[in-house]
Amino acid sequence: MTTAPTPPHLLLGSCDYPEHVPRDRWATYARMQKELGLSFVRIAEFAWSRIEPQCGRYDWAWLDQAIEAYHGCGLRVVLCTLTATPPAWLIRAHPEILASDEQGRVREFGSRRHYDFASPVYREHSRRLTLAMALRYGRHPAVVGWQTDNEFGCHGTTRSYGGASAAAFPEWLRHRYGVVERLNEAWGNVFWSMEYTDFSQVRPPMLTVTELNPSHVLDYARFASQQVADFQKEQLEILREMSPGRFITHNFMIFESGFDHYQVAQGLDFATWDNYPLGMLEFFAPSGSGEEVKTRYARTGHPDLIAFNHDLYRGLVAQPGLGREGRGTPNGPWVMEQQCGQVNWAPYNPLPAGGAVQLWTAQAWAHGADVVSYFRWRAATMAQEVMHSGLLRHDETPDRGYAEVETLDQTQFPVGPVPARVALLHDYESLWLYDQQKHSASLSYWTQTVAYYSALRSLGIDVDIVHADAGLSAYAVVVAPAITLVPPERAARWAKAVEGGVALVCGPRTAFRTPGGQTWETGQPGPLSDTLGVKLLQYDSLRPTLSQRVSGPGGDVQAHGWAESYRLQGAEALYSYSGGPLDGEAAVTRRGQVTTIGAHSPELIGAVLADVLQRAGVETTPLPEGVRLSRRAGRTLVQNWTLDAVQWNGLSLGPVSFMVQEE
Ligand code: GAL
Repeated sequence: MTTAPTPPHLLLGSCDYPEHVPRDRWATYARMQKELGLSFVRIAEFAWSRIEPQCGRYDWAWLDQAIEAYHGCGLRVVLCTLTATPPAWLIRAHPEILASDEQGRVREFGSRRHYDFASPVYREHSRRLTLAMALRYGRHPAVVGWQTDNEFGCHGTTRSYGGASAAAFPEWLRHRYGVVERLNEAWGNVFWSMEYTDFSQVRPPMLTVTELNPSHVLDYARFASQQVADFQKEQLEILREMSPGRFITHNFMIFESGFDHYQVAQGLDFATWDNYPLGMLEFFAPSGSGEEVKTRYARTGHPDLIAFNHDLYRGLVAQPGLGREGRGTPNGPWVMEQQCGQVNWAPYNPLPAGGAVQLWTAQAWAHGADVVSYFRWRAATMAQEVMHSGLLRHDETPDRGYAEVETLDQTQFPVGPVPARVALLHDYESLWLYDQQKHSASLSYWTQTVAYYSALRSLGIDVDIVHADAGLSAYAVVVAPAITLVPPERAARWAKAVEGGVALVCGPRTAFRTPGGQTWETGQPGPLSDTLGVKLLQYDSLRPTLSQRVSGPGGDVQAHGWAESYRLQGAEALYSYSGGPLDGEAAVTRRGQVTTIGAHSPELIGAVLADVLQRAGVETTPLPEGVRLSRRAGRTLVQNWTLDAVQWNGLSLGPVSFMVQEE
């Protein structure tokens, strides 16, 4: 008798640390993981000191045995390169590996990520060790894939302000600019007599008397990002050669801003990310929301912040031809570390609501994840993370998250495409510039971007987050919430997309900056002026006690944080300011299919986007607070993120719950 194969669906895994527990637990844990319905286990990212206790003396026996234990139970292993935690013997022999903080202080051994990406000595050890791992396990039948390092940039570790990075930066600039006069021009160094006469005089942007030059900061961010990409590329080349047929990924972080993720993702098979919804909310609440929203979502996390990261990482690696559907094996993206209890690193670390682990898992699937892997299998009994939960408690009994995983039916989550007709544009260079000169403490690149994203999600829209230079012709509507850096080529690409029928929406500060970080001689929005049909007139930074009235078809709304006005050059005004210094000037404009929003107001953004979507023929479903819709593979996930039961659209949703509906 043959049984029909189960169609490919979401698979689960966990992050396990055999080196943290007695050897006699390994086989038991592997069996328990299998019985729980897990398919994958990620191991070894912090195990360098056990794998190479002394320089060149490897101890593989324990890892061999651990891998065999998983393999024996049919679990598929994701191995990591070991470079997130260089051991003490290496650091004491080569202290030049250590990075420095913005104050120029050395970041010492004793935790993790204590290395400078630019260190030639460290690069050599990274290659040597990656090769040793790949030779040992690259073709092992249990090993299905690799994770490079662990969370690049975590704990603010992308940029080092001394040592190897400080030494390499002038050379990177020489390569970029050729002659120092070009550097001076690109940075506008005549301002405050900052001109250099030789590249060797340039230091990292740090410890200046007052503000840093944004162009200096921008180039340092580019330089540091390049170091991360180069560091990883060296590992990728080794793994590709020595471990054929295995995937390679990296576990990116929530809202990490230190490096250009699109650049660093090049060469990966897919991106994974680490989803800690409650910890994230303590640090980051959507614009203007503060304590009230943090309280409301303290036990579930905010749906849009989590979904934003899913959509961002789904779009990080273009996957032409990879065809996630129907292959039987997951091609990503994944959640590599999924919170399944409380975390330890936020100022407050609440327990998740009952149902939250299932809701997070379902949401991950609906936003494109093929695998969700929980962090961690068993709570650590030692060191920095003893307060952090796992699927098992410290005493090895199943914790609350375990029970939720145990009762989750994975087969209700088929893998397949996310059908987004709306794209939201994102670009790390714009982020670096925006946040270097926020001009209004109420806003940042992320808060402005998330405000637009959240408005779309409140209208029931599925969103692809793509790079500002991505192909746009497949979308009905493209939203550029905060792309402040727009070179002429980018402007031309957007103009072409508009000609091809795409509706474009730009937020405040779009195209304020040249690629060097200066403003346009011809005024803003520089090369986009014709497409938008406007010229920037004034911009106003609103302190929390000030607001600016905006009047238009939907009545009056108040702008907070930021308001900019436009001179019309082909566009018409949809909304105008009333009262205050911008009185009578255009706040929202339209030229054909192009809309420009100059005032920051979630209400206004929602109203304008709803109108644009309707004109573009994209169906909207206005949703109540805490209810969200996400579509994938012909199904709709209806989610209730509130702690109360909700009646919506004829459906009864229990507190913190979801329903999967077939279309
Ligand atoms: C992640 C990290 C893990 C662990 C976890 C705790 O950022 O990758 O190693 O520290 O946080 O929540």
